[in-house]
Amino acid sequence: MLRRPRRNRVSPAIRGLAQETHLEVGHLVFPLFLVDGSNVRNEVPSLPGIYRFSLDNLLKEVDECMNLGLTNFIMFPAVPDQFKDKMATYSYDPKNFYLKAAMEIKKRFPESCLISDVAMDPYSVDGHDGVVKGGKIVNDETLPVLAKMSVAQAIAGFDILGPSDMMDGRVGVMREALDEAGFTDTGIMAYTAKYASAFYGPFRDALDSAPRESEDIPKDKKTYQMNPANKREALIEAELDTTEGADFLMVKPALNYLDVIHLLKENFELPIAAYHVSGECAMLIAACQNGWLDFEKAMPETLLSLRRAGTDVIITYFAKDFAKRQR
Ligand code: PBG
Repeated sequence: MLRRPRRNRVSPAIRGLAQETHLEVGHLVFPLFLVDGSNVRNEVPSLPGIYRFSLDNLLKEVDECMNLGLTNFIMFPAVPDQFKDKMATYSYDPKNFYLKAAMEIKKRFPESCLISDVAMDPYSVDGHDGVVKGGKIVNDETLPVLAKMSVAQAIAGFDILGPSDMMDGRVGVMREALDEAGFTDTGIMAYTAKYASAFYGPFRDALDSAPRESEDIPKDKKTYQMNPANKREALIEAELDTTEGADFLMVKPALNYLDVIHLLKENFELPIAAYHVSGECAMLIAACQNGWLDFEKAMPETLLSLRRAGTDVIITYFAKDFAKRQR
């Protein structure tokens, strides 16, 4: 036999030379759940090992991560009901604990990269990412809210804003509002192909942000998040986000959508991010807790598969676990 592929697998050193894909802590983004108050460190039941922190404890968590070389974070707020309304006005209120927390994190850890969430759902009594009117999510009336939220987040010091709402035209509206306010260096990581997925359950538990059950409120997000059956449609979204000024294109969820990640990587020049979502992480944790899979091996293999498919930036609840094992 002239060709023996096994020759390149003979030893760890040779396997290292032949390795095509690499995974480093610098590729990872760690999601953080913030609650109001102090001294809170509350585990998410459906996502063991992940906590909701008040700012005091969140700063300790960020400090630990920074010491592990993990510098990138995406933060989400769990907003108390009394601050929620139809128009998500608390999202751009200067008293908002999420904005104040971002300011504090960036002051204490200026070398960190802090990514926000731009969407109405954490602040909305209806639990939807856009304005609900006449039983519908109205696109164009949502855009000014997202623009105000974006400027407030830029003022708070977020490095990159993450529109997760899937409204049409939002990246352009955000870019314009940011530039007008002088935040030309604040980036946008667009949730480009965000699917109406069953894998967001633990996240909605963590933030209590599921659509509210009521006759006149759509019970799911299918009129704005993408149909899991579609792939070509992701090209349309990516084209729009690119022309509207996005800096990163994201696919979400990640593992069930490796083909979409690959497609965007092949067709666009912007860095591609993938959100390895709560339900995807919870499945693996549950199997490992049952003794059915070995976390030490299954976790890095999972993250590596995202890199192999073409992901530049991996948002994953395993970021800290991975960083710890690199030390
Ligand atoms: C909402 C938002 C969601 C996630 C990130 N931003 C949930 C949703 O769209 O209902 C999910 C993340 C995860 O499951 O880890 N704007």
